[in-house]
Amino acid sequence: MPQGYAQIEQKKKEQVVPNPSPAATLPGLEERGERLRRVLPEAEWELARPTIAAIEEWKRQRHAIVLAHNYQTPEIFHGVADLTGDSLALAQQAAATEAEVIVLAGVHFMAETAKIINPVKTVLIPDPQAGCTLADAITAADVRLLRERYPGVPVVTYVNTSAEVKAESDICCTSSNAVEVVESLGVPRVIFLPDEYLGRFVASQTAVEVILWKGHCIVHERFTPEEIGRWRRAYGGDLEVLAHPECPPEVLAAADYVGSTSGMVRHLEAAPAPRVLLVTECSMSDNVAVNFPGIEFVRPCNLCPYMKRITLPKILDSLIHLRYEVAVDPDVARRARRAVERMLAVGRGRGG
Ligand code: 13P
Ligand code: SF4
Repeated sequence: MPQGYAQIEQKKKEQVVPNPSPAATLPGLEERGERLRRVLPEAEWELARPTIAAIEEWKRQRHAIVLAHNYQTPEIFHGVADLTGDSLALAQQAAATEAEVIVLAGVHFMAETAKIINPVKTVLIPDPQAGCTLADAITAADVRLLRERYPGVPVVTYVNTSAEVKAESDICCTSSNAVEVVESLGVPRVIFLPDEYLGRFVASQTAVEVILWKGHCIVHERFTPEEIGRWRRAYGGDLEVLAHPECPPEVLAAADYVGSTSGMVRHLEAAPAPRVLLVTECSMSDNVAVNFPGIEFVRPCNLCPYMKRITLPKILDSLIHLRYEVAVDPDVARRARRAVERMLAVGRGRGG
């Protein structure tokens, strides 16, 4: 358990916890069930339903909202999330919310980003072990060494990093606005951390020279161009392939569109194709399929084991016991906030 959680746990135990009796039928629950049954077996919906009802009741009691990333399972994404989206959307929504408690159904760096933006709010992650291989790929000490090696070259950091790494950075970016963030600096050269493949994609889209790091996403690095070729042969010419820029360059070269997870949704809204392959995490296709019943989604399944640590029972537990509260050292948060706010000022880019 990351440092700081033990003390917070003790504090929570000392609090008086209200004892809500979950409403049997909450407004909207049946409609949610109807939508979820498009991708979930009836039995799974029936299993999820009481927990969804209990979560709604606790959200009300706690003045809480659930923010869910596009990779969360459909029963979370369509069942209990008040706001959903890609990493940029979650950061924007965290900045705008008036809720007292934010439950981040996503991974730890997303919850940390919400806390950096909202230092006075309670930000909860239902499982503190929901990490990310990209966030683990670089430390604050690495960034300081890079700055020594490339004096004066600005550091652009993907949000998939720890608060300490963000604090050492000039500006953050997401997959939706990485190109625009790099260009916003008006410099000939940047250090781009830590995702090598996203960095290579940015380099292919701009004249700015990009110094790379060797971090990779465990989910996206597994896709291959051969796999995409096999799906294209199996499904014929009307298959549209949308890939996330965390994939290797050869995979992106084999795709029809490259963008963030929300960018993929926007692309389909603008021009729905009859058959679509989303080259990204598994649950994304399930979540999108609920809203696009006319599209046939081809579903290769690369799961993110970190995203999948978040479950409905853990979200309920998080609301009941106000755990696990995300804590960021105030000085680190202040420095990281500068980099995140600079990114938010750039806004959404062509990749999303
Ligand atoms: P986006 O949703 O911002 O595209 O990021 C994908 C991702 O891997 C988040 O962990
Ligand atoms: Fe990290 Fe990849 Fe999982 Fe996203 S999908 S949280 S980048 S490991």
